[in-house]
Amino acid sequence: MKQAFEKYIPFQPIPMANRKWPDRQIKKAPVWCSVDLRDGNQALVDPMNLQEKLEYFHTLLDIGVKEIEIGFPSASETEYEICRELIDGGHIPDDVTIQVLVQAREHLIKKTFEAIQGAKNVILHFYNSTSTLQRKVVFHSDMAGITKIATDAADLIYEMSQPMIEAGMNLRFEYSPESFMGTEMDYAVEICQAVLEHLHATPERKVILNLPSTVENCMPNYFADEIEYFIEKLPSRDCAIISLHPHNDRGCGVATAEMGLLAGAERIEATLFGNGERTGNVDIVTLAMNMWTQGVDPELDFSDINRIRDMYERTTKMKVGERQPYAGELVFTAFSGSHQDAINKGTQWMAQHDSGYWEVPYLPIDPADVGRQYEPIIRINSQSGKGGAAFVMQHSFGFDLPKAMHPEFGHIVQVETDRVGTELKAERIYELFKTNYIDAVKPYELVSHSFAEYTDAEGHSHVTFGGTMRHKETVFQIQGAGNGPIDAFFNAIHGQKMDHFTFVDYKEHAIKSGSDSQAVAYIHLKDENGQDWFGVGMSHNINLAPLKGILSAINRWYRANH
Ligand code: KIV
Ligand code: ZN
Repeated sequence: MKQAFEKYIPFQPIPMANRKWPDRQIKKAPVWCSVDLRDGNQALVDPMNLQEKLEYFHTLLDIGVKEIEIGFPSASETEYEICRELIDGGHIPDDVTIQVLVQAREHLIKKTFEAIQGAKNVILHFYNSTSTLQRKVVFHSDMAGITKIATDAADLIYEMSQPMIEAGMNLRFEYSPESFMGTEMDYAVEICQAVLEHLHATPERKVILNLPSTVENCMPNYFADEIEYFIEKLPSRDCAIISLHPHNDRGCGVATAEMGLLAGAERIEATLFGNGERTGNVDIVTLAMNMWTQGVDPELDFSDINRIRDMYERTTKMKVGERQPYAGELVFTAFSGSHQDAINKGTQWMAQHDSGYWEVPYLPIDPADVGRQYEPIIRINSQSGKGGAAFVMQHSFGFDLPKAMHPEFGHIVQVETDRVGTELKAERIYELFKTNYIDAVKPYELVSHSFAEYTDAEGHSHVTFGGTMRHKETVFQIQGAGNGPIDAFFNAIHGQKMDHFTFVDYKEHAIKSGSDSQAVAYIHLKDENGQDWFGVGMSHNINLAPLKGILSAINRWYRANH
């Protein structure tokens, strides 16, 4: 008895010796063609209406796509009207070519020629199925019969195009041997060569040969072998532009496209976020941004990916998955503490070593390159390490906590994540910081104070401090002198009940929120048992911020011990 999986016929790779593609690299952008408005649209539960298609079309223009397949104008009145609106409504810039798809059938070809009247730049794209399976089960035809469908269509297209070309239209041709991947390679070469000849292709008037993986049925390396083989065997190679049209049935559409480029393809048909029949077409965003991360200019602009994603979700009613490369909600979020620490260190490394390169572990791309922000990079959950909370404070709110303080604040955040059992958003982390440190202003409060400062003949600074303090209901005066404001304040509290600390360290920096700039001081004290206490003070006055920081540390100690 056969097992269920044995009903599948394995893909037969073509024998290839001395393949060249594995040693090559992608060094420049291919010609991009968007098939969103055709292959993507035909795969929607609710195909786009005119307004939606127009909005989508204009977004593709903003991204910089220069060849756009706008539909199948012979397929329905709606498709025809959309084509006419794009042309008559003046939506198509002079440097953009619209592409229209048609089956290799006479009446559909004639209708398509009607639909493109008046356009400046057009690619007329025709196709028929060539694979062994389609010939056998759909067309009941041999290779000669299938070739005749293609060459008859090519003859008609060539003939009908001449008056339009003479009238000034920049009209080019594209032929797709549909289901190319399942076609015998020598036959694929034969039919494509015949089409080139019937279209009178020359090196000056090249024809696009679009080699689709209509249903992805093999590993990307086998596909690359097919492309390299096809290109080597095609007699009129110099009269053709080799284009790919990968679908994603095995989840390898991106790899298929990339390896196909290595094998010599020059053009890619793709869609935003991989919309398209079944598992979709290959995702143009991933392909382009993969090039970007290798230092290659993809010549497409995805610098505002959120806007593109919003447009896409609105017009197609599809969702971009949370882990979709470069665009998903979660792709710039690190949950693991060790990842967060490494991101933190990478960011610091970049700030310290002006290398000009992106060198941050776990972030293959600078989120800012796709218009994403640093704030959502790290969300804190119970797996996050001590550096994660400090990273959020720095990148989302501008607080540069001293290293020694990271474990203590990390612990505060950890206790909260354990309590609530979910991740914490940046705003909640800020709240924890504020309530634990900045708002620790009682029981010891500085009600009012003044400093007097003079510098002696040797250049030494002398500061005297006088202030009124409150401890619960008791108000009292303190006075002290020292070589700076912190020293003077520390001496002033000498002999008071808040006197049993040694001063370990202090750090201060400016922090800006809107047009308002304040000083933030981080104070590190030790109590008589050698335990660390941190405090944070904020003020517009740089002398007052550290005093508030000292009182914050003392008040935190007091709250913990009373
Ligand atoms: O996937 C495919 O083969 C197609 C062709 C019409 C190019 O969409
Ligand atoms: Zn397709």
